[in-house]
Amino acid sequence: MLARPTTPAARLIAALDTPDPARAAGWARALGRDVGLVKVGLELFVAHGPSAVAAVAEAGTPVFLDLKLHDIPNTVAGATRSAATLGVAMLTLHAGGGEAMIAAAREAAEKAAGTAGAMRPMLLAVTVLTSLGAADLAATGVAGGPAQQVLRLGQLAIAAGADGLVCSAHEVAPLRATLGPDVALVVPGIRPAGADAGDQKRVMTPEQAVAAGADWLVLGRPLTGAPDPAEAARAIAASLA
Ligand code: C5P
Repeated sequence: MLARPTTPAARLIAALDTPDPARAAGWARALGRDVGLVKVGLELFVAHGPSAVAAVAEAGTPVFLDLKLHDIPNTVAGATRSAATLGVAMLTLHAGGGEAMIAAAREAAEKAAGTAGAMRPMLLAVTVLTSLGAADLAATGVAGGPAQQVLRLGQLAIAAGADGLVCSAHEVAPLRATLGPDVALVVPGIRPAGADAGDQKRVMTPEQAVAAGADWLVLGRPLTGAPDPAEAARAIAASLA
């Protein structure tokens, strides 16, 4: 499994949010060693599948496949096996899929990586989507609000075999305090000081997120929207040094 980042650049994950694999591969080449991983999300994967992963992986930077899997254990195990075969370094699934689903994914990832002689993907659970507020959660039958639900699902996911969680910057400190130092925390919604927040509402700077306990930071538009993405990544890494 991927080791925890030991340099500021290794903490950075570039979200390659585009349906165009050539564009994504271009960003991956441009960012090269200035980030730790590149993230392929649903938009690109649904459009171009494994060939998009291969196109991006050619640049040599480990790939984070952000598919947020959520289905019955047997199906998620199969999807995890397929992802492990692609050689991705990180894979996401929904904690709300439950203990058996997460355990099945972990077992499938270990077996598939062992068979292929490949690195086992780090399994990251998504707790509560940051697009959901207290009222949205209540409408789905979850009382108590997002903060409580994030902790409950976070504990469940880690106990079931997830290696870490994807969480908002504002959830990092309570999750780190509850789950301890070994759990990987990956945090989107990051904006360098003075940057445009776009549609992200509750943002933190890279320094604040790392100080709160984040291991990896997911950055999309602050990198891909910059005139020189690699230079933008180096500036963010410098702010963390
Ligand atoms: O462009 P931006 O930096 O906002 O991109 C953030 C990336 O992280 C996107 O790929 C987005 O889908 C993802 N993400 C997020 N918030 C979450 C989970 C994932 O912004 N809670």
